[in-house]
Amino acid sequence: MKKIFILLASLLSVQAIAQDLHIQAPNGQISLNVHVKNGSATYDLSYKNKSVLEPSQLGFQLQEQGLLQNNWSLVKVDSAEVNDSWAPVWGEQKTIKNHYKELAVLLKQNSANPISLRIVFRVFNDGIGFRYEFPEQEFLQHFVVSDELTSFNFTNNHKVWWIPGDFDTNEYAYYTSNITDVATLGKKKDGKIFTATPIQGAFVQTPLMMKTADGIYINVHEAALVNYPAMDLKFDTQTFEAVATIAPDAVGNKAYMHAPCHTPWRTVVISDDARDVLASKLILNLNEPSKIANPSFIKPMKYVGIWLEMHLGISTWDYAGKQVASDAESDGKTRAKTKHGATTENMVKYIDFAAKNGFGGVLAEGWNTGWEDWFGKWKEDVFDFVTPYPDFDLPYLSQYAKNKGVGIITHHETSGSVTNYERWMDTAYRQMVKYGSPALKSGYVGRIIPRGEYHDGQWMINHYLRAIKKAADYNIMLVAHEPVRPTGLHRTYPNFMAAEAARGQEFNFWSEGNMPEHETILPFTRLMGGPMDYTPGIFKIKKSYYIPGAKEQVHTTLTKQLALYITLYSPIQMATDLPENYEARPDAFQFIKDVAVDWDDTKILHAEPGDYITIARKAKGTNNWFVGSITDENARELVMDCSFLDAGKKYAATIYKDAENASWDNNPEAYKIEKITLTNKSKVKLKLARGGGTAISIFEIK
Ligand code: NOJ
Ligand code: CA
Repeated sequence: MKKIFILLASLLSVQAIAQDLHIQAPNGQISLNVHVKNGSATYDLSYKNKSVLEPSQLGFQLQEQGLLQNNWSLVKVDSAEVNDSWAPVWGEQKTIKNHYKELAVLLKQNSANPISLRIVFRVFNDGIGFRYEFPEQEFLQHFVVSDELTSFNFTNNHKVWWIPGDFDTNEYAYYTSNITDVATLGKKKDGKIFTATPIQGAFVQTPLMMKTADGIYINVHEAALVNYPAMDLKFDTQTFEAVATIAPDAVGNKAYMHAPCHTPWRTVVISDDARDVLASKLILNLNEPSKIANPSFIKPMKYVGIWLEMHLGISTWDYAGKQVASDAESDGKTRAKTKHGATTENMVKYIDFAAKNGFGGVLAEGWNTGWEDWFGKWKEDVFDFVTPYPDFDLPYLSQYAKNKGVGIITHHETSGSVTNYERWMDTAYRQMVKYGSPALKSGYVGRIIPRGEYHDGQWMINHYLRAIKKAADYNIMLVAHEPVRPTGLHRTYPNFMAAEAARGQEFNFWSEGNMPEHETILPFTRLMGGPMDYTPGIFKIKKSYYIPGAKEQVHTTLTKQLALYITLYSPIQMATDLPENYEARPDAFQFIKDVAVDWDDTKILHAEPGDYITIARKAKGTNNWFVGSITDENARELVMDCSFLDAGKKYAATIYKDAENASWDNNPEAYKIEKITLTNKSKVKLKLARGGGTAISIFEIK
């Protein structure tokens, strides 16, 4: 099956003459031009003969060597075509097609001590990727990047779904505006985000989703972010050009490089059908194949855990029963007199619940000493990641979980003190192995230590990857909260199961929360780079159920929470609500018990950023499908065409849908369950309430 053919190599060897180089996607719809003219190198891009990017800049400002943007001669052009496929360890589909054409230009400065730079472009049917490579060379070895000058020169004042540029956090709510409004809207402060370092001006983060007036969807991000800072974009609101900004370090430098080396890929996904954006595997294709020789320890799973109760303020992370999420991450208004959550007794309850309902893991937060001290102090030695609180009997619980066939998911909140965490990592991971804990949730709430570093700077980028690799050495699966936004590295390190790196469900419990459109935007933005640990599955939607008078709520209906297991892809999914809330509604809980977390196939049925998404996925190794359909604050009707099912077969479907009178604000917990038979000729009308959703399980009738 594997087909790789290299077409042509080394076309030209030319000096200082104007060059217009051209490359097209395999299906001819995307065209990329590279111009080396008057010493500068630019690129432009079109889709179906419409301009997507006008000539856009390439280059760098280096600290010692100066501007790397002019003064170029074209030395060599290479081109190639690759057409193959590969199988991920886990994922949305069994095999992934990787078909692109490549154009690489080798540039050399016209100077006494010339620097060489190679720029590699890959054009796929669904977009492009390009990166800079610094070959081994005489006049450039160690160097410091002061700025990357890459730009994306958009043609007009497009509609953009964006969050403000920030070197420390991606936990903002999304804005939808035109490019011209980015500068003014991004100034709003979100007090519930603890460590935020917004960049002043018209800065936005990637993945950045855009739509042109004539209906072309454009998504800009990066792939394989390794040993380099994360990229934000700065818009020129007059010309609509977006220029790269990479996060600085504590002394204001950006990236420390040593040739031969290269940058991450800059990616642009393009289509006139929004469904293609969600289906794109371009970012994964630009990452390296798996480096984990024996991935048998990597098992997609659903989990439950001691978590929501702290975020609701009904138990605490710390032993003394003082610190709840509303103190830690909110304004303290809903603070309750309460008690420690991660006790042996409580953990036994969760383990029993997990075992009874087929969940693979149980998370315990607040199991280890240090929480008295963790929040906001910028203190270096807070946690040791190995010492349980006296009321959490780790040896007993490990054995108890093992006997029940459940794994304990360990939690390491670094509190941003990464120097301390790095000192403890081996000891802590060794302890996890000793107690048979298969997975780790890490967290980076707080200002980073080494002081002055940012979450998105090169030092932290290297830390996150060190943690992923070290976890792999100990056969541990990893989920990271508050890391940099993912860039497809889970292809290379499939033990990196998921990340938060966006505004998760937790915001609904102690802030104004996530508006109903939030989950219709996430797949087009944050999830472009990799799975998210969003923590879906809330059945008790309003916080006033627990704390009379509380205003907070999840902006959802109950069945939308079920649909999120499909529309927000992750190989590790939490059943987030309290066991008693699931036990009270066994009919709806059945969907969470049934739904798969690893897939042989995925079909995007409907999609429009900020409005609605319907996805159908085929559970790994079966002929069963699960569908999730969600809407924003508007009620809507969508028709599910079942042609994705096998012809000639019959399927038993259970439809979990909003009741007639349901809506996220007035009647969020009203649902109906219906059973019907489907064939591949069926068309099913999906009626979504305001802020609602539908989930469907489809089992083949044998
Ligand atoms: C923020 C994380 O997103 C959340 O899941 C966790 O419970 C708290 N930090 C405490 O570590
Ligand atoms: Ca978080």
